[in-house]
Amino acid sequence: MNRKIQPIEGFQRNILDNLSTAVLLLDKSLCVLYLNPAGENLFHISNKRAAGIGLDKLMFVAPDFADRLHQSLENAQPIAEHQVSIRLGHERSITVDYMLSPIQLADQNDVLLMEISSMDRHIRIAREEKLLSEQNATRNVIRGMAHEIKNPLGGLRGAAQLLERELPDAGLQEYTQIIIGEADRLQSLVDRMLGPNNVPRKRSTNIHQALEHVRQLVQAEVSEGIYFNLDYDPSLPELMADPDLLIQVMLNITRNAIAALEGNGEITYRTRPQRHFTIGHQHHKLVLQTDIIDNGPGIPEDLQQQIFYPMVTGRAEGTGLGLSIAQSLINQHGGLIEVHSQPGRTVFTIYLPLETMDV
Ligand SMILES: Nc1ncnc2c1ncn2[C@@H]1O[C@H](COP(=O)(O)OP(=O)(O)OP(=O)(O)O)[C@@H](O)[C@H]1O
Ligand SMILES: [Mg+2]
Repeated sequence: MNRKIQPIEGFQRNILDNLSTAVLLLDKSLCVLYLNPAGENLFHISNKRAAGIGLDKLMFVAPDFADRLHQSLENAQPIAEHQVSIRLGHERSITVDYMLSPIQLADQNDVLLMEISSMDRHIRIAREEKLLSEQNATRNVIRGMAHEIKNPLGGLRGAAQLLERELPDAGLQEYTQIIIGEADRLQSLVDRMLGPNNVPRKRSTNIHQALEHVRQLVQAEVSEGIYFNLDYDPSLPELMADPDLLIQVMLNITRNAIAALEGNGEITYRTRPQRHFTIGHQHHKLVLQTDIIDNGPGIPEDLQQQIFYPMVTGRAEGTGLGLSIAQSLINQHGGLIEVHSQPGRTVFTIYLPLETMDV
C-alpha cells in the first residue's frame, strides 16, 4: 500500500512549517502520513522517520483511543478534547488539547487530520507566575515580622546582661544565661528569616565548578552509602552570577537530599541548556537548567506545594528556611527553582537565564 501523500509544497508548506501546533495526517490504519515541524519537535522524530509508523508507537492516550479514532473516520465525525494527558515514550507525559478531523484528500481515501497543542507550556507559565508572586508576598510578611522581633530582642538580651552584673548570688546567673542563650538562638533564626541582604556580586561563573565545590563540601559530611552521579553538559557557557550565592543554593538542596536519603542512595547533578524558554514573564533565548536529583522517599504530596514557603519543614530539627532562601537567591538572578517529586525520585530544577531576549 502506498502511504505517501503528495508532497506539501509552496505556501501551504510554509504555513504548516510555522505553526506552533503539531499537525499529523493519519491514514485509515492510523499510520502517519505526514508530521509538521512542531510535531517533529513534540514527538522527537523527523517527518521522514515517522512516515508509516503507527500512531500507537508515538503516543499513548487511553486503551480505547484507537477505537475512537476509527469511529471518527467511519462516521466522518470530528473529535475535540481538552487537557488530556498523553504519554510520549518513556517517562515523558504531557497535557494537550487535541482536535481530530476526518478529511478527504484529492488522491487519497479518507484521512485523519490531528492537531495537538501542548498545554504544558501555558500551565507551567501560569504556575510560575503564581509561585513568584506568592513568594514575594510571604517574603514581605516574614521580613516585616523578623524586623519587629529583632529590635525588642536586642533590648531583652542587653537587659539580661545588665541584670547579671547586679545579681547578688552567682547561682542565679544560670537563669540570665538561659535568657541570653535563647535570645542569641532567636537572633540567628531571625537573621536567617530576614534572608541575605547583600546584593549579588555577579561575575562570570562556571556552573560545573560551583557544583563540584558543593560536592566536595558535602562529601566529608556524608556516609559511604551515598553516591554522586555527574551528568554535565560541557558545552554550556559560563553565566553571570554570584558563585557564592549559587553554592549556597545548591548546598541547601543537596543537604536536603542527603537528609532524605538517610545514609543510603544516589544524588545526581545534571546540567542542560534549554533554548527559547520562559521564566515567569520573561522569555530567554538560552537558559541553564541544573537538576539535583535523589532517589530518596520523595516529598509528601501535601508538603510539595508549600516547601518554598518559609518555616515549612518536614523534619523535626529543620527550620524550614533553606528552600525559601534558595528560591529568593535564584529569583535575584532572574531564575526559578521547581520541584517534581515522587517516591524514589525527587528532582529540584534550577533555571538560570544565560541570554535574554525581549519579546
Ligand atoms: N530531596 C528531598 N526529599 C524529601 N523531602 C525533601 C527534600 N528536599 C526538601 N524536602 C522537604 O522539604 C522541607 C523543607 O526544606 P527546607 O530546606 O526549606 O527546610 P529544612 O531542611 O526543613 O530546614 P533548614 O533547611 O532551614 O534547615 C524539608 O523539611 C523536607 O521535609
Ligand atoms: Mg534544608
